Amino acid sequence: MTTVAPARRVQAEYPFEIHEDVPPSTQDTDMSTHEEMEADEEAEGEQPEDADDQQSNYSESFEEEVVDGNIQQDMEKLANTYPGFRHRYRLIKRIGEGTFSTVYKAEDLQYDRYDNSWDLDKENEKWSPPPLKTYASHSSMTTDATQSMEQARRRKPKYVAIKKIYVTSSPTRILNELELLHDLRNCPSVCPLITAFRSTDQVVAILPYFRHMDFREYFRKMTVPDMAIYLRSLFTALSFVHARHILHRDIKPTNFLYDPESRRGVLVDFGLAEREGADSKPCSCHDDPVARKMKLRAALHSNLSPHNGYPKQDTRPSRRANRAGTRGFRAPEVLFKCTQQTTKIDIWSVGVILLTILSRRFPFFNSADDVEAMIEIATIFGQKRMRAAGQLHGCMFETTIPTIGSVGFSLERIILWSTCRSDTGETLSGDEKLAVEFLNRCMELDPHRRISADEALQHEFLQMGVDEPAPLAEAGDDDEMDILKV
Ligand SMILES: Nc1ncnc2c1ncn2[C@@H]1O[C@H](COP(=O)(O)OP(=O)(O)OP(=O)(O)O)[C@@H](O)[C@H]1O
Ligand SMILES: [Mg+2]
Repeated sequence: MTTVAPARRVQAEYPFEIHEDVPPSTQDTDMSTHEEMEADEEAEGEQPEDADDQQSNYSESFEEEVVDGNIQQDMEKLANTYPGFRHRYRLIKRIGEGTFSTVYKAEDLQYDRYDNSWDLDKENEKWSPPPLKTYASHSSMTTDATQSMEQARRRKPKYVAIKKIYVTSSPTRILNELELLHDLRNCPSVCPLITAFRSTDQVVAILPYFRHMDFREYFRKMTVPDMAIYLRSLFTALSFVHARHILHRDIKPTNFLYDPESRRGVLVDFGLAEREGADSKPCSCHDDPVARKMKLRAALHSNLSPHNGYPKQDTRPSRRANRAGTRGFRAPEVLFKCTQQTTKIDIWSVGVILLTILSRRFPFFNSADDVEAMIEIATIFGQKRMRAAGQLHGCMFETTIPTIGSVGFSLERIILWSTCRSDTGETLSGDEKLAVEFLNRCMELDPHRRISADEALQHEFLQMGVDEPAPLAEAGDDDEMDILKV
């Protein structure tokens, strides 16, 4: 087994590195399985996104529920993949199945052996573990296991989420996710990486288990202050992530694990995240407006200007840009294939979450592809603004679809419609109006005008409910690790 992270957990002073616990076996090195997403431009980084995908999650109602036979088999297989796994973790159930991984809940049997500085919950526990006996590193596994079991039995169980990354994921992508998580350790509201293991081409990441509820179960019941509290937690995470010039790229409800009871959330899934500028080429959206206008004018007067319909032989050079993310949550600049995307793409996705909550509709956008996604956005924002948004990135946006009007609709109107209030003449409440004002700032089509995470945290809307005392997390049957300060 290879440990793909520091042996002592969460060691701020060491840079992230891969090191071997045991000499690699001959099978141990080849991880170059097929690059499932990166080869094809159309599919680049795209998640297979039927609407269910945005919703695939679990509801956490039963603790040690009966596990389906096939899942049991998969868990057995996983536990057998790593020597010593059973001494460290007791797999309980499958809690998530995503595009790139399957996630299991497990009990951490050796919790007491490690530096758990990320686990704020431990401070609150009355019971403190007895000092550990030191023992030789080659002590027998049986003694190790007995000791771990004994300790685990004597304290409240501690749980971890074990993310089994599919072997078809590219090694670069896996390393990228682990490295970014390592860089983001100590960020409030970001789920930290405890450690990671590799055996041949199978990598698992170990994360603190965070209790949360399926978004679909609570979003319709949220009051406006609830929305502000939810978003404050999410923006706190983003503020730290963005300060490190990292784009998450896949902000959506299933990647922000939220517990409405304790009103805390953590951002997970950095599988598509990237460093700002890592893969960028200049885009005209970063030019000054005068230079951009001149470029556009030149393009309009050349034969590259748009005509009705498709050119039979399109001689324009194809454009490549990172479009990774989830359908329905992609920012307009991602759809326009901007080659110089910034952290603002995440803000748009948060806007989509807020629009979903305010409109009580999930999923709010439900397009089959990027063209449909543009049509959905254009229907709301209108042709004029959509055209201007495209021009920022050197794209022409033209459509003859009759439902896309010239000026579109206000978000306020959309929300009144979708909550069936437009016929009754009802208007938005004062709180809702403030939320919509904030929403408009998140869903600016121009990324430069869109609010940043830091600015969002200062916005009046996110100040709502700030003085309310946080409810005490129930000391119930569960066990979540309290890994946040907000
Ligand atoms: N630390 C955690 N604590 C509790 N549950 C978790 C944790 N990490 C992940 N999960 C559960 O597993 C699901 C999938 O995790 P994650 O998003 O990291 O994997 P993924 O394969 O990239 O998923 P997707 O492709 O759907 O985005 C999450 O939506 C969540 O329900
Ligand atoms: Mg995910």
